[in-house]
Order: sequence, then C-alpha cells, then structure tokens
Amino acid sequence: MNEDVGEILFSAEQIAGIVERMGKQISKDYQGKDLIMISVLKGSLIFMADLMRSIDVPCSIDFLSVTSYGSGTSTTGEVRILKDLDISLEGKDVLVVEDILDSGMTLSFLLKSLKARYPKSIKLCTLLDKPERRRVNITADYIGVQVPDMFIVGYGLDYAEKYRNLPYIAVLKPEIYSE
Ligand code: IMP
Ligand code: MG
Repeated sequence: MNEDVGEILFSAEQIAGIVERMGKQISKDYQGKDLIMISVLKGSLIFMADLMRSIDVPCSIDFLSVTSYGSGTSTTGEVRILKDLDISLEGKDVLVVEDILDSGMTLSFLLKSLKARYPKSIKLCTLLDKPERRRVNITADYIGVQVPDMFIVGYGLDYAEKYRNLPYIAVLKPEIYSE
C-alpha cells in the first residue's frame, strides 16, 4: 500500500495540527448553539472522528452517504443520496463535514437538500480544498488546507475504496489509476 503513494503532503502530526486549529475555531463559533455535525461518508469518517474530539461545545452527530464518483478519479456530475440522516435538522445549527471539496458538485447538491429541512443555520467544513477544480460556485466556511490538483489518498480519502487507512495524506502514483 505504501509503495503506491508518492509525495506525502501532510504527515499525521501535520494533520493533527490542522484539525486542532479547526476545532478551536468551531468551538468558539458554536458556543450556545445547537450544533449537529454531519459527516459525509465515507471519506470524512476519520476527519470527523478527530474533529469532534477537538470541539469542546456540546454537539450531536449524524451520517449520510452520497455517491458521485464510481471508482474513477473525476466526478460524473451525478450525485445521489445512498444513506440519509436519522435525525431531524429542524432548528439545528448544522455543520456539514467533508474530506475534500473538489468540483463542488457533491456539496452544492447536499446543501440544497439539507437547506430544505429547516435548519437554523448551515455551514460547510472541509479538511482539504482543491479550488482549481471547482465547477460550481461554492466555498466552505471552514477550510483545513488547500491542495494542488493532484489525486490524493489517505486519512479517509480513497482510490477505489483503498488507502483510507493511511494515517497521512499523500499523492497517489498516477500509474496506479492509469493502469
Ligand atoms: P466533488 O463533488 O467533486 O467536490 O467531490 C467531492 C468528493 O470527491 C470527495 O468527498 C471525495 O470523496 C472525492 N474526491 C475528490 N478529490 C479526491 C482526491 O483527490 N482523492 C480522493 N477522493 C477525492
Ligand atoms: Mg471518495
């Protein structure tokens, strides 16, 4: 697995620092609010788990799963909800937690769907942002770090469902996905 990756962009320690800083900011902004964190599966699983532990205001969590990619490396433009939320968003301060904001298709679709459920507020939080690839006009309210236009894996991010368990974030060698 480790031999399939090239440059390591962020070590486990660097990621921890980024997540810590985001958690502090979110804790400050959500004091006295009714925070519900929504993890967009599966990519944001690990980020969500770390981020929620660096947040020190009360919060609840829920999960949803969407698909837009199949097993390729670029979006098909189609987004579908595969698993919906269990709990109601009515009156809640919703924070959508994503691993990476790429074309923006996934989040812009989700935002529309979640806004229709009467939340009190809704914000977006993404660990990674690839602004060069944006196809719709969307920015996250909380951004961990910007990354160049390269296909990356690890810390929850996959290629064909693999590499999610790498503790660091690295560039996948192009020969792996061009095979
Ligand atoms: P978007 O709809 O194009 O913004 O795609 C967002 C989703 O695409 C993310 O939640 C990831 O699952 C996936 N994705 C985008 N870029 C990468 C990447 O470089 N590596 C792994 N997954 C990616
Ligand atoms: Mg994915």
